[in-house]
Amino acid sequence: MKTFYITTPIYYPNDIPHIGHAYTTLAADILARWHKLLGEDVFFLTGTDDHGKKIEKAALRNNKTPQEFTDALVPKFKEAWAKLNIKYTKFIRTTDSEHIETVKLILQKVYQKGDIYKGLYRGNYCIDCESYYTEKDLIDGCCPIHKTKVEELKEETYFFKLSKYQDRLLELYEKNVNFIMPISRRNEVISRVKEGIQDLSISRTSFKWGINLPFDDKHITYVWFDALTNYISGVGYPGESFKKFWPANVHLVGKDILWFHSVIWPAMLMSAGIEVPKTVFAHGWWTFNKEKISKSRGKVISVDELISIAGVDSIRYFLFRETSFGQDGDFSEESVIRRRDTDLANELGNLVSRTLTMIEKYSNCRIPYSNRLDEDENILKNFGVKLFDEVSIMMNDLDLSNALTRIWEYIKLLNQYIEKMKPWNLNKTKNYEKLNTVLYTLCNAIRIVAVLISPFIPETSNKIIKQLGLEPDSFFKEPYERLKIWEYLKEGITIRKGDILFPKGDKKC
Ligand code: MSP
Repeated sequence: MKTFYITTPIYYPNDIPHIGHAYTTLAADILARWHKLLGEDVFFLTGTDDHGKKIEKAALRNNKTPQEFTDALVPKFKEAWAKLNIKYTKFIRTTDSEHIETVKLILQKVYQKGDIYKGLYRGNYCIDCESYYTEKDLIDGCCPIHKTKVEELKEETYFFKLSKYQDRLLELYEKNVNFIMPISRRNEVISRVKEGIQDLSISRTSFKWGINLPFDDKHITYVWFDALTNYISGVGYPGESFKKFWPANVHLVGKDILWFHSVIWPAMLMSAGIEVPKTVFAHGWWTFNKEKISKSRGKVISVDELISIAGVDSIRYFLFRETSFGQDGDFSEESVIRRRDTDLANELGNLVSRTLTMIEKYSNCRIPYSNRLDEDENILKNFGVKLFDEVSIMMNDLDLSNALTRIWEYIKLLNQYIEKMKPWNLNKTKNYEKLNTVLYTLCNAIRIVAVLISPFIPETSNKIIKQLGLEPDSFFKEPYERLKIWEYLKEGITIRKGDILFPKGDKKC
């Protein structure tokens, strides 16, 4: 069985989850669901990055130990993912004992390889990024991402010989064009690596909250070295499950943390003698009403707020339709509602409700069968069958927005077909044969739409499948090849017309 292993970054549990966390985790959920639909054995890993100075500081501010502090926040992430209908395989925390053991094992391997040495570090540190910056990177003495003052740190530290891997990294990018996606970001990383890379400080002595180095317990492992290792510890390194799923198919990350994933992480793996992942995909950032989302300016959109705008599926749809995955996007409540009202309610919702109402009225609640295919029906059949392959290619390229756009082109075509065929006139003129053909064609096509939207808006997809008189659980267990068959629906299935899929005006569906 083909395997598919996908990961999200592990998030700092120093506050409740927001749109940025939700975005990557939803993307991973959509891709995991897609690959499950194809019948693959899927492992989807997410979790939290519990260690480091930032967490230690936040805990102190709240009069808690870092363990108590993170223990209180981690459930908020799990709850948020449950509310958003995200189904991960495993939730890892870097405080898990298996993870700690793996970090020590990897450090030991890298150390024995001769890739770690002791030195003195002097540099500008941004706690929010948990990262050092060179003078050149700073903007007016501030972190280029957070725009906050950096701290000047000077400490004894162990270094990882990152510079030694410059040529091997460049060779990796060269040989494997899909290692960094999208291509524009790949080019940025390549040119930065070509400029030269410095060795990386991988230990700290100025705080306690982290994993001790196995070869010097006065030192705490740098939080990124610790965190990146989650991608192998989370899938059971070095056991059977790791052997089955590694290398990961996709690490999904935000553009701000691409460097860690596309430079530091593969170099760590090369040093430890472990295969590198297949793809690191960096998505863009959301702004809020054209402004940067920032905690300090009170512009953070929590998961609860996201859901309260127009319900779970509207937000799942909006985030992946509004902007191309990989590019930045602007978020506003109005644009979510606009998408819900036009694409979801007017186009998809109406298509389903009009069709089922006609079956109710003209066919006694039963889906009529017809094997007649005139020109219009042939067009719809061919489009529908081809749509599976087109969407498949786009999902492989992680082109989520175009997959949705293409599915919606089909939905628009189906609405136009109703307008053209005017089934109400066919009923009036007693042209029952054509009426049955039109209704059967619509049901077949709607079933295809329900399959293809299922990774994106699973709840809506299930509702449609139920309304078509099928059982979602057993339906989605069918092999993908069977789901692709045009004439899947049997004669005489009784529909179960339910509530309107996307009631407009309602804040929460
Ligand atoms: N703990 C590290 C990741 C370690 S992975 C081995 C971390 N955590 S984080 O809590 O800061 O989460 C960051 C993730 O959220 C990043 O992928 C980042 O790009 C994403 N986002 C944060 N704000 C965002 C937006 N406004 N828009 C989209 N994503 C953004 O970094």
